[in-house]
Amino acid sequence: MIVSPSLLSADFANLSQDVAMCESSRAGMLHCDVMDGVFVPNISFGFPVIKAVAKIATKPLDVHLMIVNPQNYIGRVRDCGAAIMNVHQEACIHLDRTVAAIKAAGMKAAVTINPATPVVMLEDIIEEVDMVLLMSVNPGFGGQSFIDNTLKKVKQVRALIDTSSSQALIEVDGGVNERTGALLATAGADVLVAGNYVFKSSDPVGAITKLKNL
Ligand code: DX5
Ligand code: ZN
Repeated sequence: MIVSPSLLSADFANLSQDVAMCESSRAGMLHCDVMDGVFVPNISFGFPVIKAVAKIATKPLDVHLMIVNPQNYIGRVRDCGAAIMNVHQEACIHLDRTVAAIKAAGMKAAVTINPATPVVMLEDIIEEVDMVLLMSVNPGFGGQSFIDNTLKKVKQVRALIDTSSSQALIEVDGGVNERTGALLATAGADVLVAGNYVFKSSDPVGAITKLKNL
């Protein structure tokens, strides 16, 4: 299992300490949630913060853009130091073009779908993407409860990958903890994003290890 701690739940006044904690842990990447107050009803952080994190992190940055028109920011996301650029299927009219542009910019391309978006929407892009990100909460806030229907969707994406030439990883984001993480591991998830479960824990490094070992 690959663990991607979500910095949305980190202590922004001590971000370098929280990044250092992730660096010292078995986290495989660092999840950065960008929100624009339009695609989702919240605003988080943007390029300057991602740039600052990239300066002190050696692990790949997994940037999740909860914004409209993400295709307008591909170059800037790359210049911030992102390794993976996640765009929402719901935010991209020309998803195929956007995925190609992300890869041409030298990043891995991931496509994200909301809880009510069916997996069939990925059918004609699956062979082009490096990762699928399934939202297991409605995006916009950390600390929400896991939506159980996601387990079915993980199995559906796994079947889609297995019946195509896709090598895509399956990432899940929202309400992940030891219990839901175990269910997701069984269903076939490769990458677990966790915000509150990691950063609100009294032992964040241990919490990451627990998810890693699922
Ligand atoms: C939600 C974000 C998530 C969030 C997860 O909109 O995309 O990455 O930080 O937080 P938890 O793990 O607390 O649900
Ligand atoms: Zn996220």
